[in-house]
Amino acid sequence: MRFDGKTVVVTGGALGIGRAVCELLAERGAAVSIIDWDEDAGSKLSEEIVRNGGKARFDRVNVANSADVLAAVEATAKEFGSIDSLVVSAGIQRYGTAISTTDEQWDEVIGVNLRGAWNAAKACLPNILKRGGSIVNVSSVQALASQQNVLAYTVSKHGLIGLTRSMAMDFAKDGVRVNAVCPGTVDTPMLKWAASLDPDPQSVYDACNAMHPIGRIARPREIAEVVAFLVHESSSFVTGAIWTVDGGLLTQIGGVPKTG
Ligand SMILES: NC(=O)c1ccc[n+]([C@@H]2O[C@H](COP(=O)([O-])OP(=O)(O)OC[C@H]3O[C@@H](n4cnc5c(N)ncnc54)[C@H](O)[C@@H]3O)[C@@H](O)[C@H]2O)c1
Repeated sequence: MRFDGKTVVVTGGALGIGRAVCELLAERGAAVSIIDWDEDAGSKLSEEIVRNGGKARFDRVNVANSADVLAAVEATAKEFGSIDSLVVSAGIQRYGTAISTTDEQWDEVIGVNLRGAWNAAKACLPNILKRGGSIVNVSSVQALASQQNVLAYTVSKHGLIGLTRSMAMDFAKDGVRVNAVCPGTVDTPMLKWAASLDPDPQSVYDACNAMHPIGRIARPREIAEVVAFLVHESSSFVTGAIWTVDGGLLTQIGGVPKTG
């Protein structure tokens, strides 16, 4: 699966799943535009891709700010000549219930995870529409089910499914496909941060490994492979789809007693 001559914008491309997407697409010939607020990680990755013979640029942007996202996207189109696809991976996790979540936390999570995805799509679509392409939103299993104490995150990830389906319908006839992936637990800096909130971080990893029927959490590259397929024209009849990439997590019925 090659991406020669294609330009892909990746929000949250500096670390974690987004980084794996950038590395994979660049290895397979795409020019990647890394949009992230982590200057150090983003510029290092961009330099690394170029050193390895690929094409990349980095823009330090908070995806919640639409004007800054648009400026980065316009600079990308100017440098690479087109934009064919967008992958939205920028996201943050905050903990709280309907009572304990603060106004600031709600605004921050919805602003980055949901508004940030819309900002990126709105900025990229005029370019993508010129010759058709694809948008992939990295949502979560928490778009399809939930757990305790993650109100704003769950709402944002459910919202991302609505954004995906709406855009899929609006642009299907224009040759733009829009899909979402819903990963289970993935070994990224986000998980490391979440585990660090526990007095015994290793116990968080152990529990996450155990809860997936496959017996382990995902490597970022395993999510990136599915994202790459949805970006590529190999998936030309797939739009408006929600792909779980979760090691069987949502297939299993919880709490069933062992029999036989
Ligand atoms: N790691 C998991 O277990 C997991 C599971 C399901 C879904 N996801 C989702 O996948 C996506 C990527 O997660 P990850 O685990 O790679 O996270 P991560 O924290 O490891 O990486 C996220 C990247 O997004 C960037 N980012 C965050 N907020 C930003 C902002 N406002 N503007 C610009 N850049 C910003 C970060 O700097 C970082 O480079 C997220 O949307 C997350 O919700 C993660």
